Amino acid sequence: MTKSSNQFIKNTILKLLGAIGSEKEINKYIEKFSSPEQRFAVIKVGGSVVENDLENLISSLVFLNQVGLKPVILHGAGPMLSAALEEKRIDFSFINGQRVTSPEVRDVAHEVFKETNQKIVEALETQGAHAKGLVSNVFQCTKDDPDLGYVGSIQSVNIELVNEVLESDSIPVIAPVGFQSSEMLNINADIATVELVKAINPYKAIFLSETGGIFNKTGQLIPNINLALEYEELMQEEWLHSGMKLKLQQIKALLDHLPRTASVSITEPINLPKELFTDSGSGTLIKHGYSVAQHKVPDQETQEHFKKIIEASFSGNLVDGFFDDPGSLNIFMTSCKRATIAISNDFSVPYMDKFGVIPEAKGEGLGAGIWHEMRKVYPQVFWRSRPNNPINNFYTSICEGCQKQDEWHIFWIGISDYGALKDCIEYAINKPKSVI
Ligand code: ARG
Repeated sequence: MTKSSNQFIKNTILKLLGAIGSEKEINKYIEKFSSPEQRFAVIKVGGSVVENDLENLISSLVFLNQVGLKPVILHGAGPMLSAALEEKRIDFSFINGQRVTSPEVRDVAHEVFKETNQKIVEALETQGAHAKGLVSNVFQCTKDDPDLGYVGSIQSVNIELVNEVLESDSIPVIAPVGFQSSEMLNINADIATVELVKAINPYKAIFLSETGGIFNKTGQLIPNINLALEYEELMQEEWLHSGMKLKLQQIKALLDHLPRTASVSITEPINLPKELFTDSGSGTLIKHGYSVAQHKVPDQETQEHFKKIIEASFSGNLVDGFFDDPGSLNIFMTSCKRATIAISNDFSVPYMDKFGVIPEAKGEGLGAGIWHEMRKVYPQVFWRSRPNNPINNFYTSICEGCQKQDEWHIFWIGISDYGALKDCIEYAINKPKSVI
């Protein structure tokens, strides 16, 4: 492909991406992910995705390739392996999610992994992306658990090989097969992914699955998980099934190993570009996160941080006198001082006067984390927002009611008394501006 047609494709793609996010946010992510300081991503592709959603998977990967981003792919083949074993009438079982591997199971596994690997590599090559399959030379292993048989416990990752492929401008496509001397060993794909991520230290670890995220008890996708705030709570929840708890545990262990800037996304292939190149994403974003402090009488330092965050996020000046009666305000602030909420208590119902996240931190899930903490303290709250504020989609998704007026949209939660609600709306409409 010539340089100019390459450029043409890149421009076309950027234009198409414009339909899912703003040019500014897309460029912000392309720049972030292309940084020479940190590898872009390790993408784990579940076996069932290869089986049932190969087309979308390849489109999304080719798309990344076209904008110049090279991920490292690790794929599973669980469902294909089970089917092959059933066909050959070979019995199999699992211990804690790991397949007990006899020599016969191991041999079939090796074949199935080779086939699956080749299928991905060929599909990528057919669509013009260079790819190289790495089937059994990346994970050096030992056999540690006699009950599991020919299952590899990873001792080291051949990172030089992966780097070589990346440097030759190809996408490494890795199968979870290990080796000990010349012997092949089977490895659980999630475990292999965790070790690969630790060795590569990428900006993002992405899990592509058919369901595309973690869901709450009413079946809605959880867009953000801030582990510092939510991990313990989530592990206690009855509605989170054990498979997801295990996954979350592994993800936490993984993030504990990576720099704070790293994150994990769980999404489905078709939504990968939206997840990567927009702030709101499309899937579940998991971050180590930050704790949130509550300041009931905000001191000078908190007031200064608050002012900085609000002025950056609203591109205006906080009015003088905002803190004239600090005792009537309750300020929530993340420990990184990049997101804040102010609740004013000078009316009969708590009023959310300000909610700000600095522009550079958008997409990190800080807003969702601080919101979650505020809601624990305030079951009843109301607030207003300008009709053109992009955050309104979020507000609409979490409020219990909304009244749209020309100048303001008024939202509320936990207020069911009609009279009280009328007073709240009246109060919100007439409240003087706090940022000018
Ligand atoms: N594009 C950003 C990233 O990939 C933000 C993604 C936000 N996703 C979400 N599910 N909340 O890191």
